[in-house]
Amino acid sequence: MIKPLRIATLLLLGMGMVVAQTAIAEHVVSLRGHTPLDEDTGAPELKHWDKDGQPIERDYVQQPPLIPHQIDGYKINQKFNKCLTCHSWANYREAGATKISQTHFEDRDANVLANISARRYFCTQCHVPQVNARPLVENTFEPIQAITGK
Ligand code: HEC
Ligand code: HEC
Repeated sequence: MIKPLRIATLLLLGMGMVVAQTAIAEHVVSLRGHTPLDEDTGAPELKHWDKDGQPIERDYVQQPPLIPHQIDGYKINQKFNKCLTCHSWANYREAGATKISQTHFEDRDANVLANISARRYFCTQCHVPQVNARPLVENTFEPIQAITGK
C-alpha cells in the first residue's frame, strides 16, 4: 500500500519538475521563434563557421573534437570518404592531420577491426565545423580538471 505521505512527496516532486521545465522553456526559443504554426517565418540567421583556425578546446574528454577547418564540398558516400584522405592512418602524416583514434576501429560489440568501423564512417554525424556559438541557456558549466588542469 502506498502511504499518503509518499503520494504527497511524489506530487510535490512532479510539480517541481513542471515548474523547472516551464522556467527552462521560457528561455529556450525554437528556430521558429514565437511565430504561430499557421504563419511563415523568415529563414533563421545562418551561423558563420570559423574558417581554418585553432581548434576550440574540448569541454569533456569523450567529446568528438570540433572540426577546425572548412569542409565545404567534402563528400562522404559509400565509395569515397574525403575526410579519410587526410585523417586515415595511411594518410595522416602526409596531410599533417590528426589521425582518427583507435575507438574508430571498434564495432558496437567492442571487436577491434582492421578498418574504420561502419558506425564511425559518417564523420559529420559526430564532428561538426566549429563556430563560437553562444549557449542557448546561460549557465556556469566549467570543463573538468582533466582538461583544464586547474
Ligand atoms: C585536406 C586534408 C583534410 C581533409 C580532407 C579533412 N581534414 Fe580534418 N584536419 C586536417 C588537418 C591538417 C587538421 C589539423 C588542423 C589543426 O589542428 O589545426 C585537421 C583537424 C581536424 C579535426 C580536429 C582534430 C583535433 O585533434 O582536435 C577534426 C575533428 C577533423 N579535422 C575532422 C575532419 C572531418 C570530419 C573531415 C571530413 C568532413 C575532415 N576533417 C577533412 C586536414 C583535413
Ligand atoms: C559516432 C561518433 C563519431 C563518428 C561517426 C566519428 N567520430 Fe571521430 N571522434 C569521436 C569521439 C567521441 C572522439 C573523441 C574520443 C575518441 O578519440 O574516441 C573522436 C575523435 C576524433 C579525432 C581526434 C583523435 C585524437 O587522437 O585526438 C579525429 C581526428 C577524428 N575523430 C576524426 C574522425 C573522422 C575523420 C571520422 C570519419 C571517418 C570520424 N572521426 C567519425 C566520435 C566520432
